[in-house]
Amino acid sequence: MLRPMLDISRKVLTRVRRGLYAALADIPTSAHGVTNSAVPAQASTPQASEPQNAKALWTEALPTEIAFWDNWFKTHGGEWPEDYKVRMDPDTPLQSFVEAYLPPGGEDIIEILDVGAGPVTKLGKRSANRKIRITAVDPLADAYDRVMAKYGVTPPVRTTWCHGEILTTRFAPETFDLVWAQNSLDHSYEPVRIIEQALTLTKTGGYLVLAHARNEAVNENYQGLHQWNFDGEDGDFIIWNRQSRVNVSKLLQARAEIRARVDATFIEVSFRKTVRG
Ligand SMILES: C[S@@+](CC[C@H](N)C(=O)[O-])C[C@H]1O[C@@H](n2cnc3c(N)ncnc32)[C@H](O)[C@@H]1O
Repeated sequence: MLRPMLDISRKVLTRVRRGLYAALADIPTSAHGVTNSAVPAQASTPQASEPQNAKALWTEALPTEIAFWDNWFKTHGGEWPEDYKVRMDPDTPLQSFVEAYLPPGGEDIIEILDVGAGPVTKLGKRSANRKIRITAVDPLADAYDRVMAKYGVTPPVRTTWCHGEILTTRFAPETFDLVWAQNSLDHSYEPVRIIEQALTLTKTGGYLVLAHARNEAVNENYQGLHQWNFDGEDGDFIIWNRQSRVNVSKLLQARAEIRARVDATFIEVSFRKTVRG
């Protein structure tokens, strides 16, 4: 069910690997430390085998992501024009498999957070059954804003700046009915920390849901932002790479009911928060 949501992003990464560095030339320095000076990343990439390099590797790889989205806006989706239309349309309905995680409709606004949303969240913006409000965050939000300004684009939901790893500095605990992350946390520098914080922001009884490709670091040979593998093992959710392995289900079992569903290429993990805080 989640394949259509993820399909584009997998292709994105393939495109990035093929080399879109040239497109970076006119993206200015980010206020948050992402600079074009990292463009020649391939020449000087530190070894992923040194865990302390996780954030350095991440920072160095970020321009590839900006380059992809620059091209995506420039070409109105490039090979994926339908994706462009769906994301940019303020009337796109919220996907039914996302609605399935929401509480019943009523007068209250249902709060949804998309972590690592990219410049334009893939989530549908309207619900027939509920009043929804989508908050979208991404560490590259400032760079994405500059790209969109360059092409005169206004997104239906503006993504704002936040690293997933510091979500609790920006939002209060128990704020969101649903925290959603797709194809993003495995691109981060500390995914377990993000998950812990995202769960804190989730309302008790609400859901944190992660939709990702399986074992993306292995698939992408630990290149660029692909430093983490998300996988299922005996029903548990595992995050691993060449240096570490965390059984997230065991780590967080006291805070949430956790279900990991995998198929050949995708993993969806839902956390129903059971304990306040
Ligand atoms: C392949 S894109 C996917 C974007 C969007 N979720 C989608 O499905 O189209 C990966 C996104 O993860 C974001 N990301 C990378 N590191 C992150 C972090 N530490 N916290 C949150 N998001 C992060 C990137 O900036 C990028 O926008």
